[in-house]
Amino acid sequence: MPIRPVLRMGDVRLLQRAEPVRNFNGGELRDLLTDMFDTMRALNGVGLAAPQIGVGLRVVIFEVGRNPRYPDAEEVPQTVLVNPVLTPLTEQIDEDWEGCLSVPGMRGLVPRYTRLRYQGYAPDGSLIDRTVSGFHARVVQHECDHLDGILYPMRIRDLRNFGFNEELFPGQELQDD
Ligand code: NI
Repeated sequence: MPIRPVLRMGDVRLLQRAEPVRNFNGGELRDLLTDMFDTMRALNGVGLAAPQIGVGLRVVIFEVGRNPRYPDAEEVPQTVLVNPVLTPLTEQIDEDWEGCLSVPGMRGLVPRYTRLRYQGYAPDGSLIDRTVSGFHARVVQHECDHLDGILYPMRIRDLRNFGFNEELFPGQELQDD
């Protein structure tokens, strides 16, 4: 049963701080990642954090190819990030629209750092260390927020910029996340 139900906003498990992964061996992490990728792709998501499927571990995945939800988005390589650490490299903040599989059918205008460094581990235990900007930086911040119990609506500065896809973007037929 690789495709797992995605928890929705209101479920207290989405508000908890996730625990670091300590065991990279054995099948537990591998099985979790299989389920996460199957779930994310089935729902056309660009990213997913383990707490969204009810697993309180510091694991996120993301991948932006050509995605019908973000037709203009730059591509982001398929990435698994375990125990990530984010370091902003600028004080510059941009606002842009985000959705979330845990907040289906909605969008909000969310402030994010425009440039950052992220470090973490790949599933084989090797180090990942990247400096990114733009949409890639936005996706990483969104996904890693899930590990600290933060959902994007909690970051919206003006809640007038939060609403249903059909009302905010009529006629665009955005997917239901
Ligand atoms: Ni999300």
